[in-house]
Amino acid sequence: MSPPNPPFSTEIRRYGTAAIEEAARLIGEGQPVAVPTETVYGLAADATSATAVARIYEAKGRPGFNPLIVHVRDLEQADTIGTFDDAARRVAEAFWPGAVTLVVPLREGSGIAPAVTAGLPTVALRCPSHEVMQALLAATGLPLAAPSANASGGVSPTSADHVMKTLAGRIPLIIDAGTTPLGLESTIVKVAEGISLLRPGPVSFEEILSVARLGETTMPASGIEAPGQLESHYAPAKPLRLNAREAEAGEWLIGFGAIAGDDSLSTDGNLAEAASHLFEALHRADAQNRPRIAVAPIPEHGIGLAVNDRLRRAAAPRQATVA
Ligand code: TXA
Ligand code: MG
Repeated sequence: MSPPNPPFSTEIRRYGTAAIEEAARLIGEGQPVAVPTETVYGLAADATSATAVARIYEAKGRPGFNPLIVHVRDLEQADTIGTFDDAARRVAEAFWPGAVTLVVPLREGSGIAPAVTAGLPTVALRCPSHEVMQALLAATGLPLAAPSANASGGVSPTSADHVMKTLAGRIPLIIDAGTTPLGLESTIVKVAEGISLLRPGPVSFEEILSVARLGETTMPASGIEAPGQLESHYAPAKPLRLNAREAEAGEWLIGFGAIAGDDSLSTDGNLAEAASHLFEALHRADAQNRPRIAVAPIPEHGIGLAVNDRLRRAAAPRQATVA
């Protein structure tokens, strides 16, 4: 997709009062602004404005059928947008603010632009804990739609530089507050007639289930059913080989634990550290002058499940439907 016309000159501003004021002003004008959250950088715009939401899709070059997460200050604001049953409320109370997104039935008269939910009867809501996103939510007073701040199909950004790599010239402003602490997108669960995991993330499904206290759990047959979970969603530019114990010719090896590699997700085999380094390591691998990437095996438990989910997507062949 071609950049918006006329193209922007994208400014990076250090987080502070002036940056938040400028971001709130732009959002008031219907522009999208890149801001850090505790998971990854998001591209935030007024969720109640069809024009503003269209600009998010335009800047990302994102297919219109892929719905966006609405970010809110607290559960009280979330209540005006979605319907929370007892289980959904328990999950929100336990994990918000934080890295859990709840997909719940959309409330009638919510004011959310239809393009945000892509016509679905449900809405994805998240109350982030990061100071910068919270400051922006407070300054605007608006619910903010925010997908990850990368061009569609690319690797999620964990720093302002990553955002620049794919969105320079397409958005007016990036607020820089360094690298994001968790480095992986939020866990998404759907709570409507049971509970199901749509995307694994920093908070495990087991933890969420124990708080939801729902007897019956419905797991979609495919494992993942978020419309945006197209196989190749998290692709770096180069081919990727998984479960590699050593590098083959032409490969840049991303190690873990005892497998040292050219780079490492965590030299002492710490899974949380691996999660926070994953996207950065993929960005770095893309920048090397070797044609292929290989990644060491990552244990399939805890947050390792979310790391492997992103790695399998990164390794999947690109689909024509993804820009
Ligand atoms: O950590 C995160 O969640 C980051 C930060 C910026 O908050 N955001 C993020 O957004 O990862 P995005 O747009 O890259 O991913 C949102 C996912 C997509 O896979 C989308 O399909 C799914 O949420 N989603 C949104 N609304 C949905 C709905 N009503 N039903 C099912 N899935 C939904
Ligand atoms: Mg994304």
